[in-house]
Amino acid sequence: MRITVVTLFPEMFESALAASLLGKARAAGLLDIDFVNPRDFTTDRHRTVDDAPYGGGPGMVMKPDPLIAAIESAAAGAAESPHRVLLTPGGRRLDQSVVRELAARPHLVLVCGRYEGIDERVSQLAIDEEISLGDFVLSGGEMAALPLIDAVARLVPGVLGDLASTHEESFSDGLTLEYPQYTRPPEYRGLGVPDVLLAGHHERVRSWRRHEALRRTALRRPDLLRRRSLAPDELALVQDDAAVLPASRTYLLLAHHPVVDRTGAEVTSSVTNLDIHDLARSAATYGLAGTIAITPIALQREKIAHIIEVWQEEAAALAAHGRAAPASGVPSGHRSHALAAVEVRVSIEEALAAIASFHGAPPLLVATSARLHGGPPTLGFPELRSLLARTAPERPVALLLGTGHGLAERAISLANYVLAPISGQPTFNHLSVRSAAAIMLDRLFGTGA
Ligand SMILES: C[S@@+](CC[C@H](N)C(=O)[O-])C[C@H]1O[C@@H](n2cnc3c(N)ncnc32)[C@H](O)[C@@H]1O
Repeated sequence: MRITVVTLFPEMFESALAASLLGKARAAGLLDIDFVNPRDFTTDRHRTVDDAPYGGGPGMVMKPDPLIAAIESAAAGAAESPHRVLLTPGGRRLDQSVVRELAARPHLVLVCGRYEGIDERVSQLAIDEEISLGDFVLSGGEMAALPLIDAVARLVPGVLGDLASTHEESFSDGLTLEYPQYTRPPEYRGLGVPDVLLAGHHERVRSWRRHEALRRTALRRPDLLRRRSLAPDELALVQDDAAVLPASRTYLLLAHHPVVDRTGAEVTSSVTNLDIHDLARSAATYGLAGTIAITPIALQREKIAHIIEVWQEEAAALAAHGRAAPASGVPSGHRSHALAAVEVRVSIEEALAAIASFHGAPPLLVATSARLHGGPPTLGFPELRSLLARTAPERPVALLLGTGHGLAERAISLANYVLAPISGQPTFNHLSVRSAAAIMLDRLFGTGA
């Protein structure tokens, strides 16, 4: 495979590409890496490659002419036109599937920007694809080109001694992180190695690794599992781990007090039958520990208890006749199971105390709102997902939802964090609590395709 790097600083690549695997691959002729410097295509005395941006602003921009000439020279004489890639934070995010696509190309030209970036017309005229390493700004494309070269080179046949090792690595199946690895000694600073790895039974080792890879991915990167539905045996493995998954220690708290009305005044809202029913079903679908409806009004609490009772009686009656519940298509047992996990409490504080006494630790309380608030720090969905994956398995979690026009400030101020509002388009943001809860659960715990 051939890679041409268009860069003002070829010397930055020298030692990284000379050592270890890449050095050997180049020496063996498996990888041909060459450099083209846009400065060699300048025509003025100062060998100028940059200029001030039109419209003003800080920094300089790489001029079109020497850069385009450099890119074109990389393609000159080649039998097939190369695939020209610009490294830029605005590009498609690099991941293992992109790496695989790139590794299948016979010749890549990697264009490294510098300064404030490159003249837009270079991209329009001489670039096939823009790629970003992530949502951060590097000082130059060289810093992004090196990891890209490394990841691509590992997939070139012959570069790794044992190509099988690339199949077992993180992301290689597009689905899971790699299982934990160990080497000697068998005990290190009080920590052992799982027995199954020491016993030498290949089939058991294989199945343990598959299980650990799935489990680690479910905990740390559930978004990866979401890219495709799990096979039944994989689902069984992940379900075995239900006790450690954050969803299984998370509660939905539906507060009818203290909430605000449309004027912003603090009120107690009345209970809605559908809220209880839908939240309970969403909670059960995503494997949550339960739903707690909160209202200080005794008659309203009785109403919730009555709703639960009616559904359960109906479910029992239908089950007795061997029929599923009408219309929904959901077996009646499932709905009554979901509603069985609904509790009723007088106040948010009482709900938190009940969770704390059951789990032996106070819950991490995350308030939700359609607006941004001062007070507790706001977390985006990816940050909350990763926080949940890192919280101790003993620590329960409570997701606090408000009815009416949302939680009152004093309810929000009880929370450890506020979840960032769900946003679609910018001018209207008024989801029902049922829809908001379902979207939140899917973003936090969803593993479907
Ligand atoms: C200082 S950056 C320019 C940043 C540009 N002004 C912006 O805000 O998008 C200089 C060069 O570094 C490279 N670069 C910076 N961050 C990158 C990233 N996350 N992925 C790929 N390339 C990056 C690009 O080639 C870019 O042209």
